[in-house]
Amino acid sequence: MTTTTHSQKYAGKLAVLYQDQGDVQLFQLLAERLGVPLHQALNSDSLEDFFLTWRDGCLKLLDKELLKKGGLAVDIEPRNGEQRSWPAPKDGALAQALGRKTRTVVDATTGWGQDSLHIFRMGYELLCIERSPVMAELLTDGFNRLAQQDWMLRLNLESPRLLQGNAIDLFANLEIPPDCIYIDPMFPPKRKKSALAKKSMMVLRDLLGDDQDKEQLFEAALNTAGKRVVVKSPDYADPLGGKPSQSFQGKLLRYDVYLKG
Ligand SMILES: C[S@@+](CC[C@H](N)C(=O)[O-])C[C@H]1O[C@@H](n2cnc3c(N)ncnc32)[C@H](O)[C@@H]1O
Repeated sequence: MTTTTHSQKYAGKLAVLYQDQGDVQLFQLLAERLGVPLHQALNSDSLEDFFLTWRDGCLKLLDKELLKKGGLAVDIEPRNGEQRSWPAPKDGALAQALGRKTRTVVDATTGWGQDSLHIFRMGYELLCIERSPVMAELLTDGFNRLAQQDWMLRLNLESPRLLQGNAIDLFANLEIPPDCIYIDPMFPPKRKKSALAKKSMMVLRDLLGDDQDKEQLFEAALNTAGKRVVVKSPDYADPLGGKPSQSFQGKLLRYDVYLKG
């Protein structure tokens, strides 16, 4: 059997960048965990397309365009218009799709954690899964920052738990089926470069590519969920699991709900 190690996966693509930003040991350990090189500074030998570095107290992912501008970190701030109390009201298309009776949710495709954090802030009990080791590092950093927020400490809340690995395999380890499994896999874009695509999603696509096994993920989610599977998809894509039981329209996207019999 051939196994792809992280270093093979990221060979020539990703490096950790130090640039005199604090404790070098942290950077070394990160580079070791991911099996990628550590660069002290950027020079003409730095051929990689992506870099991870700590800047402004956050772990950030940068592509060549972002090197001077700042970089992308897991954003732990509530979205525009979202109420800043906890739990925030369960309204909007996402909450409708998750369902009124849902208590426990597994986000099987956590990515930048934006849907997860929205779900968490609405007060659902949440477990996050992410297979990319790079995204898992960024999420761990974001969830650690979240845990230190005043409102989290005041309310004695813990950040969501994160498992790194393929959800298709990890579902088998869940002791109790969650009421709902939420999946938001990467779909091929409608056009090659969409002006509407967010930079964070474009970088994610460039780094990881499309999720080719989304049908298998859907099947595994349907077998595992207690009550429902919610699939977020772009509005131009066909429903991942055939005709859904319900659909809720968001801006340029759809939440397809598959209820279990
Ligand atoms: C489109 S992004 C998700 C974005 C996310 N909903 C957000 O709000 O930031 C898809 C993510 O799912 C992850 N993913 C796809 N298939 C997976 C699987 N089978 N197991 C775990 N993670 C998976 C990818 O690595 C990628 O980070």
